[in-house]
Formats: sequence, C-alpha cells, structure tokens
Amino acid sequence: MSEQVGGIAGVVVLAAGAGTRMKSQTSKLLHQVAGRSMLSYAISAADALTPQNLVVVVGHQREQVEQHLSEIAPHVVTALQENQNGTGDAVRCGLAPLGDLQGEVVVTYGDVPLLTGETLIDLVRAHREHGDAVTLLTAELDDPHGYGRIVRDADGDQVAAIVEQKDCTPEQTEITEINAGIYVFSADVLRAGLASLTTDNAQGELYLTDVVKFARGQGLAVHSMVTADRWQTEGVNDRVQLAAMNREYNRRLIEKAQRAGVTVLDPATTWLHDTVDLGSDVTLLPGTSIEGATSVASGATIGPDTTLIDAEVGEGAKVIRSHVELAVIGAGASVGPFANLRPGTQLAPAVKVGAFVETKNVRVGEGAKLPHHVYAGDATIGARTTIGAGVVFDNNDGFAKQSATVGADAFVGAQSVLVAPVELADGAHVASGSVVTDAVGTGELAVARGKQRNIPGYVEDRRAGEAPIIEGASE
Ligand code: UD1
Ligand code: MG
Repeated sequence: MSEQVGGIAGVVVLAAGAGTRMKSQTSKLLHQVAGRSMLSYAISAADALTPQNLVVVVGHQREQVEQHLSEIAPHVVTALQENQNGTGDAVRCGLAPLGDLQGEVVVTYGDVPLLTGETLIDLVRAHREHGDAVTLLTAELDDPHGYGRIVRDADGDQVAAIVEQKDCTPEQTEITEINAGIYVFSADVLRAGLASLTTDNAQGELYLTDVVKFARGQGLAVHSMVTADRWQTEGVNDRVQLAAMNREYNRRLIEKAQRAGVTVLDPATTWLHDTVDLGSDVTLLPGTSIEGATSVASGATIGPDTTLIDAEVGEGAKVIRSHVELAVIGAGASVGPFANLRPGTQLAPAVKVGAFVETKNVRVGEGAKLPHHVYAGDATIGARTTIGAGVVFDNNDGFAKQSATVGADAFVGAQSVLVAPVELADGAHVASGSVVTDAVGTGELAVARGKQRNIPGYVEDRRAGEAPIIEGASE
C-alpha cells in the first residue's frame, strides 16, 4: 500500500466526451460499477492525492454530471469544454479556472473506474524520483489497437513521443506499450506544451499526448510507469465493456471479502457493492446480491437467491431466497424462503419470518414468529408473539395508512385481519378467521367472525329425487 503524497497542485479529470457508444440518455460517467458511478471512482482516486484543486472538465450531458458532482463531491470545481476538440483542448479548459498554478498537475479520465488512488500516488512518486516534466502511466497489451503508442528513446529509458493509432506508421502499430491517458505534469511545462499544440494530425484535434514531444524538445525528462494491472488503464466506452468492468471489479471485491474471512460459494453469481461491510465467517450462497450501505455481521448466512439493499443483518442470522431493503434483521433471526422485507422493517434478535411474508414499517420483538403468508405493515409486534398463517395487517382504511399494535406473548390465529388502527394487549389472543376492529385486552380471546351453524338435511333437500348420498358410495 502506497503512503500519502502531498503537495499536488491540481488534478484535472477529463469528462466532457460524448459517450456515444453507450446509447444512453444517462451520461456515461453516471453509469455504475458496483453500485457507484464511474465518475465517483475518478473522484476517489483523485482525492487520494489530497490535491489543492480538483477540476472535472464537463461538456456532453453536463447538467447531469454537474448535478451528480454536487451531490457526491461538492469540493470539485467544474470547467466547461464547449466543443470536444481533443484531450489537449480539454486540459486547457480544465486549467483555466486555476490561473497561474505552480507545481504538479495530474490528469486522469472520468471513465476509468478501476484506477486506484495508490496508482496515482505511485505515479507522483515516480515523477518526483525522476525529476520528470511529464510522467505517464502505461501498460503492455496483447492487443494495443486503438490506443496511443509509446515511442521510446533509442536507449529505451525515456518516452520520446506518444503516437495515436490513426497517426501510427506500420512499424509503430507493432508497439505494444500503450498510453493509459493518466499523467503527472509540471504545471509550467503543461501550460507551455498546451500552448504549442496544433491540430496537424489524423483526427484534426489538439492532442494532450503531444505535450510529451514538446517536453522532450525542451530537453526535459519524460518517463513512463508501466502497470501490470491493465484494468487500471481501461476505459468504458460501451455496455459490453461496462459489464466486463463490473465483473472484474466484483471479482476483486469478492476476493477481498474471501481473504477477510467470508465464504463465497459461487463468486460468479454473487455480487457485491463497493459500499458493503461483511463480517468474518459470513457465508454467501449462490445468486446473492448485496448492495448499498448493507452490513452483515459475522456468522450470518445469506442466500441462495437473496438481495440485500441498505440492510443490516445481525450475527448468525439466516436470510434465504428473500428480498430485503432498508430493513434491520436481528442476531439469530431467520428470514425466508421467499420473504419480502420492505423499508422500515426492524426484526429483533431471534425473530422468525417465514415463507411468503411481506413486511413494511414494522417492528417485531425478540423471538416473535411470522412463519407463513403474512402481510404486516405499519405495526409493532411484541416479543414472543405468534402471528398465524395468512394474517393480514389491514393498514389502509381507504384514505390513509393506520397502524396496529400487538403486544408481547400474544397470538393471532390464522387468516385473521387486524383492521388498523387497533391495539392488542400483551397476551391477547385472536381466534382464527377473525376480523379484528376493536382492542383486545390481556388474556382475552377475540372471536370476530360468524358463529358456525350446521344445517341438517341441507344437501338432501337440494337433491330431491336423486339417489341419497351414502357414505362410501362415490366411486
Ligand atoms: C486518448 C489518448 C491515447 C490513449 C487513450 C487511453 C489523446 C490524444 N489520446 O485517446 O493516447 O491511449 O486516451 O484511453 O489524448 N475528452 C474530453 N474532451 C475531448 C476529448 C476527450 O473531455 O475533447 C475526454 C473523454 O471524455 C475521455 C478522455 O478524454 O474520458 C479520453 O478521450 P478519448 O476520445 O477516449 O481519447 P482516445 O482517442 O481514446
Ligand atoms: Mg477512449
């Protein structure tokens, strides 16, 4: 792990491009990897340098990008690039709000989500060690097509130039070292280099990469730092690459979790967000997706086929084939299979929520049971209470939501409806099939349904003239 480096004058993140190949109404930079926007990774990496200035160059879909930045990174300054005249023009725009900045300027892209702050720190360190004017991140690729190629000096030590794919000679296309587009510049050299750029190239653009040739022409040093981790240099241009990036980042998150003591049975079907917190000896079964600000305490088992979003799962709890969002599951609780815990659900320790149970905005006390086919919304349920099969908390009076309270050690028989607002005291019982509209006191049994009566001869009357029904006659 790299230590901090200080003293970076500015980071410029290029994010003005059109992202055409995403074919999206949403800016490419807002598409997500492991639950966070691609742009947020660029900001995190830049923040690792604790720069004095952090500028994001915006252009296409800039309202979306600016809005998003104001939410996730209010410390960022944005600079507008009106027309996308190339990366050199973009950096010019990025430097504009910084005036006569002195020191080191780091340039990165908004669409390279796996680039880490550690790599940027290493790049700055290399820049300082070499006394470079420019230091760039490069990678050796089997298929370098499309990238700018690194042309080295005869002795191979320094970078002489970067040549874009479209400007390459046939020999240069054979070069496998590519430019990642991530650099540390001396601010003075960068400014002078940008001022010298021309559009005299195959794409008619101002190439940031030409600053390298400029620096060497001034007799200044330019070195590259080759990374062995090609993912850190890869951008996302379309949704195929986005999926590949998600897959790789997920692989890294899972490996990290495994090394920290989490059992993941099937990494290929397990998905983690960057923001989740998993305790040791957690077991994740196939088909599990753990998202947002979810924490799972040690010894819990999640899955198979379970989604947790912004949830908190206590020690040793089990959540089987269920969907859980903005809910708290206490230690040792058991949920599912096929439960839907909606926002505001709080299960105390050792609660049992069984099959086809839906809960919303409900607090369930320790050891209470809702084992089968229950809807419980806007309610409080006391400790050790049993809610029978098919019970419905009717929380909607047709106009507004109402709430119900069921005390501790209570029992609600199967297929009952609790019509809120209603209150059941500690130890209250409800006979099955009741429609409960009034309070039930401690130790009382509420029976709120038609009393059963049997009508003798009923069937025979309806079948006059037919053979009488005799036990065992229906073959
Ligand atoms: C650039 C580099 C190339 C490198 C490659 C790595 C140049 C001339 N070439 O090529 O050497 O191998 O990146 O991915 O720099 N952008 C703007 N404004 C612009 C143009 C681009 O903000 O006017 C942003 C884009 O949004 C993107 C980044 O800069 O995030 C790179 O632009 P892109 O057009 O993808 O550059 P490449 O041609 O791939
Ligand atoms: Mg590109």
